[in-house]
Amino acid sequence: MISSSLEKALNKHLNLELYSAYVYAAMAAYFDSKNLKGFASWMKIQTGEEMAHAQKFYAYINDVGGRVVLDAIDKPADDYKSPSAAFKTALDHERKVTKAIYKLVDLAQGESHHATTTFLQWFVTEQVEEEAVADDIVKRLSMIGESPEGLFLMDRELGARQAAGSAGSSTAK
Ligand code: FEO
Repeated sequence: MISSSLEKALNKHLNLELYSAYVYAAMAAYFDSKNLKGFASWMKIQTGEEMAHAQKFYAYINDVGGRVVLDAIDKPADDYKSPSAAFKTALDHERKVTKAIYKLVDLAQGESHHATTTFLQWFVTEQVEEEAVADDIVKRLSMIGESPEGLFLMDRELGARQAAGSAGSSTAK
């Protein structure tokens, strides 16, 4: 059983995870339009991860007797000045998601809803990795600058990312 305020906040976050999937799907489309297939593939895998995050919230809300209510999803940006700008947006977005998770933890703790606090711990840990991976790519893209060779190599590297759980998947996210 959860309070209506916690139920509302969990549903709001479910929407944010769906929006995250939408943001990354739009970035994949941007990279495909630039023929950066490796970048696009990375973003498609990230889209799948965000959908999985949303599903975790969906299942949890039901598990604690809440009601899942889906809301409208905002339109994501569909163009970027550069691959670097896209990844900077991704990093900023992940920082926002982290803040939203922290607020949820505060709310759950304020209500002494230990199950929700425990459920959210997975996301607290996940956000450390989400930010670290995006930050690493932003820094490397900034070193590459406008170099086509650098972008080519990066495209190849990002294209090697495999979905979590697939054969030979790495921790690279
Ligand atoms: Fe589900 Fe990238 O936060």
